[in-house]
Amino acid sequence: QSTVTQADARPVKALPDAQIVTEVRHYTDRLFSFRVSRPASLRFRSGEFVMIGLMGDNGKPLLRAYSIASPSWDDELEFYSIKVPDGPLTSKLQHIQPGDQIILRPKPVGTLVHDALLPGKRLYFFSTGTGFAPFASLLRDPETYEAYDEVIVTHTCRDVAELEYGRTLIDNLRADEMMQELLGDGLDKLRYYPTTTREESPKMGRITTLIESAELFADLGVPALDPATDRAMVCGSLEFNKDIKALLEAHGLREGANSDPAEFVVEKAFVG
Ligand code: A2P
Repeated sequence: QSTVTQADARPVKALPDAQIVTEVRHYTDRLFSFRVSRPASLRFRSGEFVMIGLMGDNGKPLLRAYSIASPSWDDELEFYSIKVPDGPLTSKLQHIQPGDQIILRPKPVGTLVHDALLPGKRLYFFSTGTGFAPFASLLRDPETYEAYDEVIVTHTCRDVAELEYGRTLIDNLRADEMMQELLGDGLDKLRYYPTTTREESPKMGRITTLIESAELFADLGVPALDPATDRAMVCGSLEFNKDIKALLEAHGLREGANSDPAEFVVEKAFVG
């Protein structure tokens, strides 16, 4: 004989920290972006990341670190993701549709924030692939333009189609009336420098190579990297981050952190 108690009845559990998918866009067979509802209590600094994911087959949340790509004033949250065919999370995440739920732990953290840099004149965002995501947030944050005379964003991808998310974002920024005021006459406060490495495009080459040869600075008509005036945020693969860090340090810039601001900060883009 057994009595079913309230505890035994086990109501179907709602997803913990669930948010609703509102929009999904696919760019290539390797890249997509999506937007989800934002928890009313979530505050974050542009450039930070959160843990997001789906419920795994074992009934446990399968979570990964994702940079928030939307600015802090946005009602929703946006993410920019790679699709890895056998990636534990992205093989499933790439199939989400509007109305679906994802898990989002509302504890933003990260080093790609204005607070981790000392004041400067020129701010560089160096990115490869989905490493553009934190800059998609920072580029839409007015503070970025208020704090610097010039903002230079470089994005390197294998082919032209992989640049689309970033290019569209920059185009929309330049077309936005509110932003035009921040970007100044001729909108020249924001400089966009896209390059490809495997498909023909107007500018080709790894950004590391273009820094070493000083081609980047010649193209933009700016002086070489100088710790007195220049600040940088870096986001890409582990190897990319390592190579850029070495180049920045060779130019006299030091790596900073929230607790100890300096001339540049680095974070790894989500992979897998
Ligand atoms: P490449 O095509 O020469 O490998 P991925 O799609 O593999 O994440 O790479 C994104 C972009 O970053 C590619 O254009 C790639 O160039 C470039 N890249 C990869 N590793 C480095 C690195 N260590 N330094 C500079 N660029 C890199």
